[in-house]
Amino acid sequence: MGEASDLRGVMRRFATGITVVTARPAAGPPLGVTVNSLTSVSLEPPLVLICIANYLRMHAAIHNAGHYAVNLLDAGQEPLSRRFAGQPAGRDPFAGLKVAPGPATGAPLLPAGLGHLECRLVASYPGGDHTIFLGEVLAAATSAEQPALVYYLSRYHELRT
Ligand SMILES: Cc1cc2nc3c(=O)[nH]c(=O)nc-3n(C[C@H](O)[C@H](O)[C@H](O)COP(=O)(O)O)c2cc1C
Repeated sequence: MGEASDLRGVMRRFATGITVVTARPAAGPPLGVTVNSLTSVSLEPPLVLICIANYLRMHAAIHNAGHYAVNLLDAGQEPLSRRFAGQPAGRDPFAGLKVAPGPATGAPLLPAGLGHLECRLVASYPGGDHTIFLGEVLAAATSAEQPALVYYLSRYHELRT
């Protein structure tokens, strides 16, 4: 295959949900990153994967803490997706948010949303400029069914039930 832009051009046509992956490093403030690479891998045992860019602090935090949470965003949470994708730059994305430590992992759980998974890191695989983190799901919770936040053609959309 030729250009990276060819890959982008195809993948931007692949609609995904949006999550914020959170972790609590041993030292320093909690971390959160907007992530749409969530994939369900196995039901028995329950495993999911996420791909995290190698340069992100979240990358080291997941390696070191060994636990993280995946928060699934609802349609009203586009501002959270933007915040945890680094917009506006420099602002603490957790400012003003009421987060609760996950009972299974201690990773911060965001308020509302479609649901969340609490994960224990069981394996990591090199994936170019990203790392594929395989997590065992220790706890899973859902909220009432409500419109989802969807990313398609590089824009946010609301998917109604
Ligand atoms: C819709 C969307 C999905 C994203 N999915 C991922 C992902 O799966 N893995 C990842 O490492 N970064 C992902 N990112 C990028 C990170 O959120 C972003 O790099 C991070 O918040 C830090 O911002 P910066 O790269 O501008 O410093 C995604 C961003 C957006 C807007």
